[in-house]
Amino acid sequence: MTSQKSVPRGPGKTATALARGRWSAHVLEDRVHRTLYTDPAVFHEELVKVYGGQSWVYLAHESQLPEPNSYLSVNMGQRPLILTRDRNGELHGIFNRCSHRGATLCRDESGTARSFQCPYHGWTFRNTGELVGAPWPEGYGPDFDRSKFGLRRVNRIASYRGFIFGTLNDDAVSLGEWLGPARGWLDYWIDRAPGGEVFVRSAAFRMGFRGNWKLAYDNAGDGYHPAFSHRSLLDMASRMGDAKDMSYFGKTPDDGPMKSYALGHGHSVIDQRPAHDGPGSFWSNQRPQPGREKFEELIRSQHPADADTLLDLCVGSQINLSIFPNLLIIGNQIQVIEPLAVDRTQLTWHATTIGGVPPEVNTIRIRTQEDFPAFGEPDDQANFEEVQRGLAVVEDEWILMNRGLGTGWQEMTEDGVVKTTVTDELHMRRYYEEWVRLMAGEAT
Ligand code: FES
Ligand SMILES: [Fe+2]
Repeated sequence: MTSQKSVPRGPGKTATALARGRWSAHVLEDRVHRTLYTDPAVFHEELVKVYGGQSWVYLAHESQLPEPNSYLSVNMGQRPLILTRDRNGELHGIFNRCSHRGATLCRDESGTARSFQCPYHGWTFRNTGELVGAPWPEGYGPDFDRSKFGLRRVNRIASYRGFIFGTLNDDAVSLGEWLGPARGWLDYWIDRAPGGEVFVRSAAFRMGFRGNWKLAYDNAGDGYHPAFSHRSLLDMASRMGDAKDMSYFGKTPDDGPMKSYALGHGHSVIDQRPAHDGPGSFWSNQRPQPGREKFEELIRSQHPADADTLLDLCVGSQINLSIFPNLLIIGNQIQVIEPLAVDRTQLTWHATTIGGVPPEVNTIRIRTQEDFPAFGEPDDQANFEEVQRGLAVVEDEWILMNRGLGTGWQEMTEDGVVKTTVTDELHMRRYYEEWVRLMAGEAT
């Protein structure tokens, strides 16, 4: 963990009350204003405050930095960063912005390096950020102090079981506190792997859509849309039997066993596990996959005692976990939301493999992870773009998030977690509470 004390502290109480007041006309109990998705000024403020300035934001997974001196280029909102491991394996977050005249220093996605030399004028920095040297130093006066011109560092970098987050706020709560009950869901997801060993593949599906980044976050906790938005996928699945993956979203989902949970700090999860029954049912309910029968035969013949468990690991985790503002865990995959402009977003799907299983499990696991990004995600992105188009109607100002209000669906459980049915729009109402807190500059 790193720390830098020069960052201005948050505004005082009066200022935050005023800032909160600014948003009270835009975020109501049951609706939010269209301009939160269309106004470039709101977007630029989000980049600073929601993406790292006030609280934690997801950066990468430790498996993407596998060894000492590994590095990875990532973005914190639109701030380019280099995540590095030093020679002792410790993690650092340094801004990918040369302290000389601002050029991006590292222009590769990943690799290993003990130092980085800026391609512009050749200043060289250690992978921990210190300036090692500037060419022809006699051009600087005798009071030139190299120690003052290191790369700016991310104030705090912390990991939870391999998931790396960063914040620029020295006063933010600890990562563990901020994740809160979401930790238990991450634990479930990680501990599905024997030994808890997860590898995030840097090669990924990268998809851009012409819409605001929050449309993806809204949708990630939305159990109302699958029956309609993914109709072709569900039709195909139902031709193969009536209990196939996701078809349960089409049958009175609010009366069924699936539940949604609001976990605090804008995080939430949809738990589809209760729609399955017993070992082997994740696998048997999966949609058709070319060649799956041969894999199943192989696994059942070579690992008869634990075949059902291994086959369940080949397909999704049956949870959709949303960690505000930019990390979505969908099945076995990690999706990262990257805001590019008020009406442009990149979504990156990283496949994962796991340790402690026969290689065939990871082979079919990767095959399974080709399914939804290619077949289901375009449905979602088409909707995001159509919503963005619809929001151009300035006379129709509001986006509704009122489903579930007044129904008595919500039930408070331990740790302040609210349990509800899967079509409730509680997920959106709750993350907007966090959004207002961050935009108002309040402590989290
Ligand atoms: S901008 Fe990097 S050395 Fe000049
Ligand atoms: Fe969807």
